[in-house]
Amino acid sequence: MAYNLLQGKKGIIFGALDEHSIAWKTAERVHEEGGTFVLTNAPIAMRMGQINALAEKTSAQIIPADATNMDDLNNLVTQSMEALGGKLDFVLHSIGMSVNVRKGRHYTDEKYDWTTKGWDVSALSFHKVCQSLFQNDAMNEWGSIVALTYMAAQRTFPDYNDMADNKAYLESVARSFGYFFGKEKKVRVNTISQSPTPTTAGKGVKGFDGFITYAEKMSPLGNATAQDCADYTVSLFSDLTKKVTMQNLFHDGGFSNTGVSQEVIDEFTED
Ligand SMILES: NC(=O)c1ccc[n+]([C@@H]2O[C@H](COP(=O)([O-])OP(=O)(O)OC[C@H]3O[C@@H](n4cnc5c(N)ncnc54)[C@H](O)[C@@H]3O)[C@@H](O)[C@H]2O)c1
Repeated sequence: MAYNLLQGKKGIIFGALDEHSIAWKTAERVHEEGGTFVLTNAPIAMRMGQINALAEKTSAQIIPADATNMDDLNNLVTQSMEALGGKLDFVLHSIGMSVNVRKGRHYTDEKYDWTTKGWDVSALSFHKVCQSLFQNDAMNEWGSIVALTYMAAQRTFPDYNDMADNKAYLESVARSFGYFFGKEKKVRVNTISQSPTPTTAGKGVKGFDGFITYAEKMSPLGNATAQDCADYTVSLFSDLTKKVTMQNLFHDGGFSNTGVSQEVIDEFTED
């Protein structure tokens, strides 16, 4: 069901790799709600991905950008304003990658070149995106910037590895940049802390199947899907959440506030 919540709003969506991506589902939902946008991803992901099909479906233009590269980002931001005919109302940062996770390197044995690369892609890139938007004065007043995160920033999930540290940094950027964006531009900046979701990035985490099933059993409402996340993101892009900023918003079916569930107790109870 569509409510026209984003009619007339313009933005940029980072990170749609394939139809499982949270950014992909979000782009479809934003389109349904009347928003127009530019799709972007790293040039290498474009070659592998199916982003053209999404662009066609949502009447979006594609502008490649490596989110770690300021020249790419400044080009993306200025070109997007030109393509969309004005300043932006929403931006989704849906980007994550850890080389240590990819290569199965344990947290106690990190290769720091890989750690630095993963931090740049997953965490610092959010600061870079915000800085490019800020310095190019690219956001309309009451605009909304959202990045995606995971609860391993607050609690330990051993196999999440250095991504936990990257997410802690990302969430801090939302608070710190949110202050300046709020004061100077009346723009909100938030992170959504999403349930485990079966995407390329999600399934790359060791033990993902056990992990997602456990979360499902622990969450009173069940895990939030990528589609649910798209809905929530639309609400944060809409005018209905204008005073929500500098927050890390849990979107996890109640997982983060559940100590134990009956299903998990039953698993460990001998009859
Ligand atoms: N899947 C989960 O379980 C889960 C849970 C919570 C949060 N998240 C977060 O959601 C976000 C989206 O991930 P997803 O699960 O949809 O997976 P995904 O693999 O579909 O998306 C990750 C995206 O990051 C892009 N990317 C990587 N390096 C980049 C670069 N240098 N420049 C620009 N883009 C780059 C990839 O091309 C890809 O499109 C990530 O921040 C992820 O950490 C995922």
